[in-house]
Amino acid sequence: MTVAAQPPVCDIAVVTFEQMWRDLEPVGRDRRTTGYVRSPFASAERECAAWYAEEAGRRGLELEYDGQGNAVAWWRPRVGVNTTSAAAGDAILVGSHLDSVDQGGAFDGPLGVVSSFAAIDRLRESGFTPTRSVGVAMFVEEEGSRFGIACLGSRLATGRIEAAEAAQLRDRDGVFLLDAMTAAGLEPQLGPSSLLADVGCFVELHVEQGRDLVDRGRAVAMASSSWAHGRWRFDFGGQPNHAGATRMEDRHDPMLTYAMTALAANKQARLTDARATFARVDVEPNITNAIPSRVRAWLDARGADAAQVDELVATVTRQAGERATRDGTRLEVTTESVVPTVDFDLALSRRLAALLEDAPLIATGAGHDAGILQLAGIPAAMIFVRNPTGISHSPDEFAQTADCLVGIEALASVIEELAS
Ligand code: GLV
Ligand code: MN
Ligand code: MN
Repeated sequence: MTVAAQPPVCDIAVVTFEQMWRDLEPVGRDRRTTGYVRSPFASAERECAAWYAEEAGRRGLELEYDGQGNAVAWWRPRVGVNTTSAAAGDAILVGSHLDSVDQGGAFDGPLGVVSSFAAIDRLRESGFTPTRSVGVAMFVEEEGSRFGIACLGSRLATGRIEAAEAAQLRDRDGVFLLDAMTAAGLEPQLGPSSLLADVGCFVELHVEQGRDLVDRGRAVAMASSSWAHGRWRFDFGGQPNHAGATRMEDRHDPMLTYAMTALAANKQARLTDARATFARVDVEPNITNAIPSRVRAWLDARGADAAQVDELVATVTRQAGERATRDGTRLEVTTESVVPTVDFDLALSRRLAALLEDAPLIATGAGHDAGILQLAGIPAAMIFVRNPTGISHSPDEFAQTADCLVGIEALASVIEELAS
């Protein structure tokens, strides 16, 4: 089946997509800003997880959890269907994540999960029966918004973070990961997960986070690669002192060292066609009339390849150090997480792109669970759905229903191709 540019009008997928979207829409939405706060293991995100379990149950899918917040809802081949060609390791995984960044949009993550359920509805209505297991995944803490490590759930499931290291993670209130899991009703068990044991490939549908598809006038694309990226913590220490009584030349102000570092990162990224963002800052004591004792800021740096990112971080660190010397402040830089460039499985992506009216292959500056699975040796591909605003990690993130339906149709045809 090739995918029509226009979605079919009277399709079960339209009905179930719209119903699921309506159900999820209010969960975790901040009425004041219209942004979403679905922080891992906290109430809104748990409500999303309960919604996921309900949708799986409604469809008779077999739910499997891994003790650290990840889950797969399996659509198993019917007993009696000839599955002799399906070896262990042949299962097809779709799905995405349900957590959000703080004040994020509605689509980043949920669109992939909702579309996966709708694609199954669409296939079932057409009479299709898979000869391989098809799983709808829900990965936990994809954004790293609570515990600081992006794609924490898929990293744990694939062993790309040690359980012992993860057990040391705390949120901003000092709550340990294991305690957050326990408080959410889990019996935590960290480490490589049997959920992925039979998975032969992962196809993650995701809202596009830029304007590439708008510019191309296309509703969907496949991902070619995702950029290298990482997070670095910059700790600037200074001399706390009175804002009025301290002469300007006598100050050791870490805020100034930080401010210059943020400008240097911006300049360096522009010069090298990379990305650099300081968006999170903690200041102590954070009062108006005293020079701070400490500024802690996080650099998110990204680039087409890892060497470019390494060079950017090294340059910014050197410039920050030089400025710290001039300011009489102290600097310490800690790497919190890194992901290399991920090339998605080319054969799989090309095969799927050909199904989707030769959908373009585009690179992304965002990180995804699909990237982590690909790095762990599970062939992965991604389908992007056009975002007319081009904005993401913001309440303005958007996708038109018509484009989402094209995405569902694309996902259904991909599942049909892979699970026949
Ligand atoms: C996740 O969306 C990221 O790229 O930070
Ligand atoms: Mn995402
Ligand atoms: Mn995101």
